[in-house]
Amino acid sequence: MVSRDVDILFSKEEVENKVAELAKKINEDYKSENLLVVGILKGAFVFMADIIRKMDIAVEVDFMDVSSYGASSVSSGVVRIEKDLDSSIEGKNVLIIEDIVDTGLTLEYIVEVLKRRGPKSVKVCCLLDKPARRKSNIDPDYIGFSIPDEFIVGYGLDYAEKYRNLPDVCILKPSVYKE
Ligand code: IMP
Repeated sequence: MVSRDVDILFSKEEVENKVAELAKKINEDYKSENLLVVGILKGAFVFMADIIRKMDIAVEVDFMDVSSYGASSVSSGVVRIEKDLDSSIEGKNVLIIEDIVDTGLTLEYIVEVLKRRGPKSVKVCCLLDKPARRKSNIDPDYIGFSIPDEFIVGYGLDYAEKYRNLPDVCILKPSVYKE
């Protein structure tokens, strides 16, 4: 029973309301613009699927996969593109969808890489923000929840590839990863 390993931080209803609130702001900000929504794999796939369905503007979607923690819970600071975007972003409004910003090193790298490709704009939307652990100048444009320094799983987020399917945003009990 995976539910024994976690405590719920935000229930699926709370997350659903927050996602709707974020999408409302995005709809207002981009109302007469086209938008390319870029999901960062794998963690953002659930959030991305939910938030784009609340958008009532013209959107295209694409994905990037970057290396992050692997099976450890500590950021290596090493970022590598494992899967790049399928097409050019020149002249486009890009909105990066990220599950969680921790040190911010991953996003700092992605934003820099994408800005060099001549987009019209690049903004960042994250569901969760852990400002206490920041090691970069990343300041997301849309933030769902600011959270304390806990290890989060569920709603797409994993620990060693487990727990992504939990419907709520949960705190992984330290006894699970400190064993
Ligand atoms: P950063 O580069 O330190 O900001 O790390 C960002 C990435 O690390 C996220 O996209 C997640 O994949 C992963 N990550 C950071 N914190 C957590 C967490 O609490 N739970 C699960 N994954 C996390």
